[in-house]
Amino acid sequence: MEFRDIAQQRRSVKSFNPNRAITDDELRDLFSLVKLTPSSFNLQHWRFVVVRDAKMKAALRKASWDQEQVEKASAVIIVTGKLNAHEDADQIFSDAPDKTREQMVNMIHGFYADKPLKQRDEAIRSGSLAAMSLMYAATDMGIASGPLIGFDPSEVSRLLSLPKSLVPVVMIVLGEQVGDMRPRAHRFSLAETVKLESYAGQGLQ
Ligand SMILES: Cc1cc2nc3c(=O)[nH]c(=O)nc-3n(C[C@H](O)[C@H](O)[C@H](O)COP(=O)(O)O)c2cc1C
Repeated sequence: MEFRDIAQQRRSVKSFNPNRAITDDELRDLFSLVKLTPSSFNLQHWRFVVVRDAKMKAALRKASWDQEQVEKASAVIIVTGKLNAHEDADQIFSDAPDKTREQMVNMIHGFYADKPLKQRDEAIRSGSLAAMSLMYAATDMGIASGPLIGFDPSEVSRLLSLPKSLVPVVMIVLGEQVGDMRPRAHRFSLAETVKLESYAGQGLQ
């Protein structure tokens, strides 16, 4: 599918066919595209938990303001971000020449170590970029998706046995849409959101 069609067709779907399954092959296809998402220093902060088990989906629904789509979707993806991703720098730069690796590892540690706010910003930023890749890749594969932040992060972390180093970023429900989509809601004009040269500049007409 052309990217412009993907962007126009993707919607936040809330009604799913509970009988449609998502296979491991589909997941492999999806995540092999998602892993190409860019990240700061290529640290790839994203970690995903895929839930297809009916009992776990029901438990997640309870932890997500009782939002029905969490139980009815074929798969619920919990996108998480790794707070201590800077500790993976050695592995990520393992193919680089020794001197380059040492320089990169030192730079990355200097940037993030002992800086919890920066770590969290980056985990959320990388996780969010990966989440968007996931939704566009799913659209391209004919799979409907919906992002959700309406959940209790502590309860979701507990249910999924997330280690403390992983922060839930967003939940994405995947599956086959049933019913019609409501019209797309209001979007600000380009003039309101795109400013030329400085924020005091003209809005894009
Ligand atoms: C970070 C984020 C959190 C969201 N949380 C929820 C949610 O908890 N429940 C829900 O029904 N929709 C949720 N949405 C969907 C938005 O309401 C939806 O994207 C927006 O209304 C635009 O609709 P569209 O994606 O169909 O264009 C969320 C979207 C984002 C990006």
